[in-house]
Amino acid sequence: MSEERRGPDRDDAVSADRSGVLPPVLPADPIRARGRRLVEVSRLGDRRVVEVRTEDGVDLAVGMLPDGTPFAVGNVCRHQLAKLGRGRVTDRGCLECPWHRAEYDVRTGKMVTGPQGMIFGFPPYSAGVRAIGSLVPLSTRRVSLLDGWICLIDG
Ligand code: FES
Repeated sequence: MSEERRGPDRDDAVSADRSGVLPPVLPADPIRARGRRLVEVSRLGDRRVVEVRTEDGVDLAVGMLPDGTPFAVGNVCRHQLAKLGRGRVTDRGCLECPWHRAEYDVRTGKMVTGPQGMIFGFPPYSAGVRAIGSLVPLSTRRVSLLDGWICLIDG
């Protein structure tokens, strides 16, 4: 089965971040930005996204889409507050939450697929969460690539 078609029978707690047994809502160890330089592209790894803390103390999910487009968005999932920078970028270009696999369009910040799994994937519930996640999108920051870094454009 392709990664894009995993069914709702997949374990709810399975996440892209398999480094521990605790839910990915707890503080991790974000990369520290240097001024407008958020992260080097070479540090993104297979998940294509990381957590970055700006010099102002704001945590962002920063990554790159499969087509090479960089992005930086708010780091907290609209469902149950998982850290999106601990998720992954799917092959079809969505930011996937590491906990229940809701998906976000990083260009708009809107949730485009609700939570998945045996419990939270219940269609009416998942659709309701998606509606909320669409009405209250993630913040989006303007970024560009500069010398191998993903950089904020406007501070
Ligand atoms: S916490 Fe993100 S989908 Fe549940």
